[in-house]
Amino acid sequence: MSFYSKSSFLQVHGVPTLSFVLLKPDSCFTNCYDPMDPNGNITVTFDIEQYTSDGYVARVTIQNFYQYRHVDKPGWRLGWIWSQKEVIWSMSGAFATQQGNCSSFKFQTPHSCNRDPDILDLMPDALPQNRSNDCCKGGILDAWAINPAKSFSSFEMKVGNLGGNSTGYKPLNLTLLAPGPGYTCSPVIDTDPTVSSVIGGRRQEQVYRTWKSTCTYSSYLASKTPVCCVSLSSFYNPAITTCPKCSCGCREADQSRKQCISQDTSPSDLVSDTDILKCTDHMCPLGIHWHIKNNFKDHWRVKLTISNFNFGRNYSNWNVLVQHPGFSQQITTYSFNSTVLPTIGVPDEVALFWGIDYYNDQLLQANENQVGSATTDILLRKEMGAFTLRNGWAFPRRIYFNGENCEMALPDTFPMLPNGSSRQNPPHYALLLILVYLTYKTVCFLF
Ligand SMILES: *[C@@H]1O[C@H](CO)[C@@H](O)[C@H](O)[C@H]1NC(C)=O
Ligand SMILES: *[C@@H]1O[C@H](CO)[C@@H](O)[C@H](O)[C@H]1NC(C)=O
Ligand SMILES: *[C@@H]1O[C@H](CO)[C@@H](O)[C@H](O)[C@H]1NC(C)=O
Ligand SMILES: *[C@@H]1O[C@H](CO)[C@@H](O)[C@H](O)[C@H]1NC(C)=O
Ligand SMILES: *[C@@H]1O[C@H](CO)[C@@H](O)[C@H](O)[C@H]1NC(C)=O
Ligand SMILES: *[C@@H]1O[C@H](CO)[C@@H](O)[C@H](O)[C@H]1NC(C)=O
Ligand SMILES: *[C@@H]1O[C@H](CO)[C@@H](O)[C@H](O)[C@H]1NC(C)=O
Ligand SMILES: *[C@@H]1O[C@H](CO)[C@@H](O)[C@H](O)[C@H]1NC(C)=O
Repeated sequence: MSFYSKSSFLQVHGVPTLSFVLLKPDSCFTNCYDPMDPNGNITVTFDIEQYTSDGYVARVTIQNFYQYRHVDKPGWRLGWIWSQKEVIWSMSGAFATQQGNCSSFKFQTPHSCNRDPDILDLMPDALPQNRSNDCCKGGILDAWAINPAKSFSSFEMKVGNLGGNSTGYKPLNLTLLAPGPGYTCSPVIDTDPTVSSVIGGRRQEQVYRTWKSTCTYSSYLASKTPVCCVSLSSFYNPAITTCPKCSCGCREADQSRKQCISQDTSPSDLVSDTDILKCTDHMCPLGIHWHIKNNFKDHWRVKLTISNFNFGRNYSNWNVLVQHPGFSQQITTYSFNSTVLPTIGVPDEVALFWGIDYYNDQLLQANENQVGSATTDILLRKEMGAFTLRNGWAFPRRIYFNGENCEMALPDTFPMLPNGSSRQNPPHYALLLILVYLTYKTVCFLF
């Protein structure tokens, strides 16, 4: 389904004023941001805690401020370019992958002499002498809205080989893989020194100097193919709206790139390969299903199911974001953890769902008999006057898995109430939904 065919659909139905969506749909680059998490970023802070005879001691903190984008295995990887001839004498809480050429240091060997150090986190089982505060998480950072206490990581480094009186030079050209590409980091800037409280909060201490850079994610830069798609069903219509065909790739065309195996083949000897999927028409590694289950007097009930079509990949700490106007009312989630996120400038409420620890926080891989899945019922209170089963209102506007947008069929294909409007003549409301959908598809172009 191409972008242009959706747009021409709009024009057929007489909304030519919206032809702006036709403007260069591929022109999204570094300025793209997610309207549902406009302030999301990963901030890298260098706090100069101490000056030394030839440099300084810095604490570097990587803080994930993304509401629902976590840094998954194998973890973050941070790099920069030194502006002078700095070396890292020692490091705790992380390590540089290359020592580099330290041949000019005769009496003491630095930890890294590379001009462009490449830093990785230590594992949680790191030795006590290699640790620093808040370190050693294997590079994994939780999403801010899910677990702020585990959304940051710190390490300490002693930087030297500068002149005697130096107050340090900002590192240049920060790069962050978290874990894959897609992050762009701003230049490092001087900011107000970080203040911390000691003596039970009765005294404030501040570091000598603080440098900061913010790194933002763009799925266009990451140039990922979609990873998930949405299917829909309801109690009032036996029709199921399946994932759009070829949402994440086509079975026949992409055979070289993506392998899949069908039900009757045993995946036993392929299990270790992370790229093997169960064959489907959408070829997505993940599918999300929204089923409208009941319509009560004051409440309505939805069953949300997440399926993993990978034969060799578990998703730990997964999360699913759903945009739906019904979340303006109280919701009860039975088998997932959930929260409603604050949003500004987004027309509908947004709820975030994630697994319960030790129960379904891992979305397990598929096996011969079944796909891996996690499911919950959600009970929503009705907002009288807004709630309706008509025109697809009760279906989600948008769904993300781990921060990545999931492909969804156009609203005119949603299961209709019996005697609902016909396909040839979509009601205004469905048209509005399509507009909302297209506006989001192109929102980064507008900003
Ligand atoms: C990074 O995120 C934090 C928390 O949302 C926000 O306060 C800060 O302004 C953001 N930084 C930038 C440069 O957007
Ligand atoms: C290592 O550095 C020294 C001095 O900076 C230089 O003379 C030497 O050529 C370098 N060696 C390599 C292999 O780059
Ligand atoms: C841990 O510390 C020891 C001694 O302080 C050092 O030799 C070793 O390389 C360090 N290991 C790591 C992984 O940083
Ligand atoms: C530090 O700076 C002062 C004033 O600029 C200078 O007099 C002194 O020699 C410098 N010390 C070193 C070790 O460079
Ligand atoms: C840093 O990045 C800028 C722009 O991307 C580039 O022009 C510059 O050469 C880079 N600096 C170094 C030291 O590589
Ligand atoms: C996924 O989890 C299951 C159950 O814990 C485990 O048997 C399997 O090896 C895991 N798969 C991978 C690829 O780690
Ligand atoms: C929900 O998530 C929070 C934060 O991750 C956690 O403390 C709490 O135990 C979770 N609740 C359940 C029922 O798992
Ligand atoms: C549904 O449509 C049929 C034929 O158009 C009509 O006979 C029937 O009464 C309608 N049912 C409802 C509930 O509107």
